[in-house]
Amino acid sequence: MISNEKYIELARTYGTPLFVYDGDLMLERYNDLFRFIPHERLCIHYALKANYNPALLSLLRDAGAGIDAVSPGEVVLALALGFDPEKIIYTANNMTDAEFDRVMKTGVTVNIGSLSRLSKCAKSHPGAKICLRFNPDVCDGDNVMTMTGGDLTKFGILLQDADRAAEIAAGGNLHIIGLHEHTDSGLQHAESVLKSMDNLMAIATGERFPELEFLDFGGGFKVPYKDDETPIDYISMGKKIAEKFDNFCAVYGKQLLMRFEPGKFLSAECGTLIMEVNTIKHNRSRTIAGCNSGFPQLIRPVLYGAYHKIINLTNPDGKPALYDVCGNICETGDRFAEQRELPEIREYDLLAIKNAGAYCYSMGSVYNLRPMPAEAVIRNGEVADFRKALTDEELVTRILQK
Ligand SMILES: Cc1ncc(COP(=O)(O)O)c(C=O)c1O
Repeated sequence: MISNEKYIELARTYGTPLFVYDGDLMLERYNDLFRFIPHERLCIHYALKANYNPALLSLLRDAGAGIDAVSPGEVVLALALGFDPEKIIYTANNMTDAEFDRVMKTGVTVNIGSLSRLSKCAKSHPGAKICLRFNPDVCDGDNVMTMTGGDLTKFGILLQDADRAAEIAAGGNLHIIGLHEHTDSGLQHAESVLKSMDNLMAIATGERFPELEFLDFGGGFKVPYKDDETPIDYISMGKKIAEKFDNFCAVYGKQLLMRFEPGKFLSAECGTLIMEVNTIKHNRSRTIAGCNSGFPQLIRPVLYGAYHKIINLTNPDGKPALYDVCGNICETGDRFAEQRELPEIREYDLLAIKNAGAYCYSMGSVYNLRPMPAEAVIRNGEVADFRKALTDEELVTRILQK
């Protein structure tokens, strides 16, 4: 665990805004999953979209993780970092023919989520080994925009089309080696995972799909963002998952691999964004704490209304007051928190935004032409990897490049 004093020291050394990642915590979360789901054929494929910091990815690679990639760029990065193609699953949606061909050539497992793409694959890549993504028909998640199962989403083949999918695959002599579903991000109910597993297993019969090597149940494991959140009982959930999978394999008649693809669970808690307050402003009823970061660097509060805990690192014992914690971007909605009670914030205080390791840097942009912050990965209390921010001039040079 990184202490507040260490965050302050890092901010003083490297400047702000600064993303700090606790590599040890990420590995702890990776190991937690094996503790929760007691199954010898469990494989964890990290959802790279959550955070693509190369040093963090290397830690997971060395620990034995695979990758869930959702674009050719993510596949290229995972391969460049030495992930075994057999441990990469490519689950893009609405992919072009060119993207599909390109990724098929790399040897990673391509996960197809529409009958249309499946028909094209049967024609263009007869005899290929592929995975099929189904919509599990279960709705869960912490935000409507991250619910991926059920009627309203664009993802996966409908369960009712399983026979049609098997028929199309057979037409192209395709080998269906895996079936996949992903229900949500920010799981609210353990039962949803179990129900989605049941629904996928119900169509995964030996008659329909005789060549299965794995079932992939996606990501979605939540981590607490607020102190008073009801936690998921992962020990009890994991035990049920393992039992359910064993029962399935016994009926299927083969010991398949069980895959999960967590992103947030592995990386959210390990990340912290440190920023400095430069302006305190009293706008009649509101006090605004203006910081040197903004929503392009951590967009979840603006995009999803997500709550991120904020800590006043340099004045933790200040008298509590309500603040709008705002960024430096030309948008009224550029707020990390609205009317949040925090210890008195003064100009030049350092604030830490917690759970900034998932879907923060990776969703970032240089809107307003502010370069993304530097990133420091900490191992055993020391900086193990540092990636500097682009200077304004470097950013502009890239923009001017043709
Ligand atoms: C196919 C797929 N797998 C895994 C994940 C990871 O989800 P999470 O970060 O909530 O674990 C996502 C995220 O949206 C996804 O779309």
